[in-house]
Amino acid sequence: MGCISVAIPGHEYDVHIEPGILARIDEVALRTGKYRGACVLADEAVYKLHGSKVENALRKTFSQVVVGLQPQGEANKTLDTVRNCYDVLLNARLDRDAVVFSFGGGVNGDTAGFVAATYLRGVAFIQCPTTLLAMVDSSVGGKTGVNVPQGKNLIGSFYQPKAVVIDPEVLRTLPRRELCCGLAECVKHAVIADDSLFSWIEAKLPQILALEMPVLVELLERNIAIKARIVEQDEKEQGIRAYLNLGHTFGHAIEATAGYGVIEHGEAVALGMIAAFELAVSLGICGCEAAERVRRLIERIGLPVKADLAANEALIAAMASDKKRKDSAVRFVLPERIGAVRIISGAERGSLNAAWDSLR
Ligand SMILES: NC(=O)c1ccc[n+]([C@@H]2O[C@H](COP(=O)([O-])OP(=O)(O)OC[C@H]3O[C@@H](n4cnc5c(N)ncnc54)[C@H](O)[C@@H]3O)[C@@H](O)[C@H]2O)c1
Repeated sequence: MGCISVAIPGHEYDVHIEPGILARIDEVALRTGKYRGACVLADEAVYKLHGSKVENALRKTFSQVVVGLQPQGEANKTLDTVRNCYDVLLNARLDRDAVVFSFGGGVNGDTAGFVAATYLRGVAFIQCPTTLLAMVDSSVGGKTGVNVPQGKNLIGSFYQPKAVVIDPEVLRTLPRRELCCGLAECVKHAVIADDSLFSWIEAKLPQILALEMPVLVELLERNIAIKARIVEQDEKEQGIRAYLNLGHTFGHAIEATAGYGVIEHGEAVALGMIAAFELAVSLGICGCEAAERVRRLIERIGLPVKADLAANEALIAAMASDKKRKDSAVRFVLPERIGAVRIISGAERGSLNAAWDSLR
């Protein structure tokens, strides 16, 4: 069915989107290279639900299939998990001609990708995202890594997969809260780059939430195409890839002050987008109708528009320590309208306080 090419110079790969494709994941893998062993690094909970499809398909083709299970949740996106994955690969004596598959959400994909990037200085990697967020966002573009006590995603590397394999059927078991988190990233893409996608999501929301397959496939294709076009132009986030951080400067501060895992990443991004619109309106960059339209859609999706936040002092301090700052000023991706954003450096305290207060 759908296939979107990601043309990063020197790292071209395809994103395959097709209901039922997991049963043929071995064929997709073989099209990307010759491998002697396969290792699936999977989210434990996802593996229980859908792992047999992947394992059965791989066993048809690979004489050696090793599975490493990773406990679910952001709290496990750590170097300890990475070390456990290395043990799985090392104990199985997998060589540089092995291929590593991720199988889970963004936590799993980011961790498994970092393992693949660093095991024996890099082995082939195939992403099999199973949350909407991971399908439309984290599995494409090659950012891998883990959290450390000092901050989120501070240890990692850019490492592009050989392919991304998306079976939207797995979304049928995804909890509604997680589906909504993925939709936050879809809204983000629309706000950054495509006002017609924004209107389409507004119109198709009931079908999306009902997991109507053709609508889901279109949602995936349109969002992945946006992400692909951005990372093709700016793989290492020297320029426009930073647009994808819309809502993240605020969102990361919410996650950091709440404690990782309390507020989901997608929820933090949704709240962060509302705060970014508020800031943009107060700076005169964006009209308040666009801000209201985005808040309404986020609310209709079922995402939070208010939160029990830490004090502004703590939130602003957390923003200042976010790694996305350049020189000493905090950088914000702010909307100009639905479909266009710009980056500004620094904002005065009064506007920031008002942005945070709009979430209370
Ligand atoms: N690399 C990137 O470019 C990038 C971009 C955005 C986000 N991220 C990262 O992604 C992470 C968030 O990813 P996420 O939202 O996918 O969270 P997640 O990986 O924690 O998955 C959410 C939950 O859903 C469960 N789950 C996953 N698939 C399921 C399925 N099909 N059925 C039932 N349950 C399922 C998981 O077990 C988990 O409990 C964050 O760590 C964030 O930093 C990375």
